[in-house]
Amino acid sequence: MTNIAIIGGTGLAKLAELEIIKQEEIDTPFGKPSASLTYGKLFGRDVIFLPRHGGNHTIPPHMINYRANIHALKDAGAEKIIAIAACGTMDDAFAPTSLAIPDQIIDYTWGRKHTFFEDGLADVTHIDFTNPYDEKLRQALIKSCRQANVQFSGYGTYAAAQGPRLETAAEIKRMEGDGCTMVGMTGMPEAALARELSMAYACCAVSVNWAAGKTEAEITMEDIIHCLGEGMTNIRGMFEELMVML
Ligand code: HPA
Repeated sequence: MTNIAIIGGTGLAKLAELEIIKQEEIDTPFGKPSASLTYGKLFGRDVIFLPRHGGNHTIPPHMINYRANIHALKDAGAEKIIAIAACGTMDDAFAPTSLAIPDQIIDYTWGRKHTFFEDGLADVTHIDFTNPYDEKLRQALIKSCRQANVQFSGYGTYAAAQGPRLETAAEIKRMEGDGCTMVGMTGMPEAALARELSMAYACCAVSVNWAAGKTEAEITMEDIIHCLGEGMTNIRGMFEELMVML
């Protein structure tokens, strides 16, 4: 039984080490997910892989059908989701190319379809989201990073920004004031939707740039892509350990 799903982010539209068994195009009551679900073996472990920006990395963060993605993985039998997310960083402990396993999240997004609980409810439903990430899965990620000997931080507060533009320096200052240590564009509503469907969800963030205003330099796509390349080597090392642990 394949109970582990991996949601790939920017830089992880394909997993080179994944031995593909089959691909399945599916539909959900909330529409189509970002891509076909790919079933395969990653370092010997059965997984389901879904690239959230689509197979060719063409769906921007605010246009992703998060509900379809999470629903599709649930329908496929996934119980655990490892979400990979490229982030800007405000934290010296999460320097570019290193990894972080956030333990908190603040949602600054707007206008996204962010809940399954809208129509046809027997009762109004509120999920507990005090700790947005599954602690067991977080600890497994932390242990995997340690064993893989990669630079990582075992905590952090993820600021979910609307995008697709990067932030202003003032926005980053505000996020830091709120306690955020990293900023990405896809962490919400993904994490909350997984909780609504009772799936264990944790994030492995990869740092690809200093957030706006943290250095004098302009943030360029060239620099981001360079850091992503190195960061993904760390992600692969982490996965090699994680797949024997779960
Ligand atoms: N801000 C928001 N999302 C991001 C960033 C950033 O600086 N870098 C990568 N994803």
